[in-house]
Amino acid sequence: MTNLVVATGNPGKLKEMQAYLIDSGWELMLKPEELEIEETGETFAANACLKASQVALATGNWSIADDSGLAVDALNGRPGVYSARYGNSDTERIDRLLKELSNQENRQAKFVCAIAISRPDGAIVLQTEGICRGEILYAPQGNGGFGYDPIFYVPEQNLTYAEMTPEMKRSISHRGKAFTDLLQKLPNLQ
Ligand code: IMP
Repeated sequence: MTNLVVATGNPGKLKEMQAYLIDSGWELMLKPEELEIEETGETFAANACLKASQVALATGNWSIADDSGLAVDALNGRPGVYSARYGNSDTERIDRLLKELSNQENRQAKFVCAIAISRPDGAIVLQTEGICRGEILYAPQGNGGFGYDPIFYVPEQNLTYAEMTPEMKRSISHRGKAFTDLLQKLPNLQ
């Protein structure tokens, strides 16, 4: 099995990636704690690439990174790459977004997940992106999930992300779609 270093310090993210990549033949490992990568990119894809590339170069291993967030049409794509930094807690981030959107009638939005894989020499050899379109509600609905889940409504399911079972969210979500695409491309990699 080839080692694949996950460019995150978050054990939760490692676990989630392990679940998606269980039969892929790669051995996933957390990046060294002291290795901090600043997310300076202006797009999700740019951030995924820079994280994967820098972790690969620093560790001498293959590396995988993801970057995700919520882009709201009427806010010109905000919070976008700033999704995690839009406030100090999930509640603060949701409150800020709802305030900025106010009574705006156009509530269209999308969740995006970009994933990149880098070779040990820092070269990006695989990139993929998953998108899930939906609408921002006027108030939170549902108790599951995390982050912006309670205000993200998916019309096809007639549910918010926070009202879906984890299995349903995985099958239709931005992250689920990105990993499905990644799994199809992985066998051609090495
Ligand atoms: P990152 O991908 O770890 O940089 O996180 C991006 C941020 O986007 C998270 O902190 C959440 O605020 C938000 N986000 C990404 N994916 C989801 C999701 O599936 N549901 C809710 N919020 C999400």
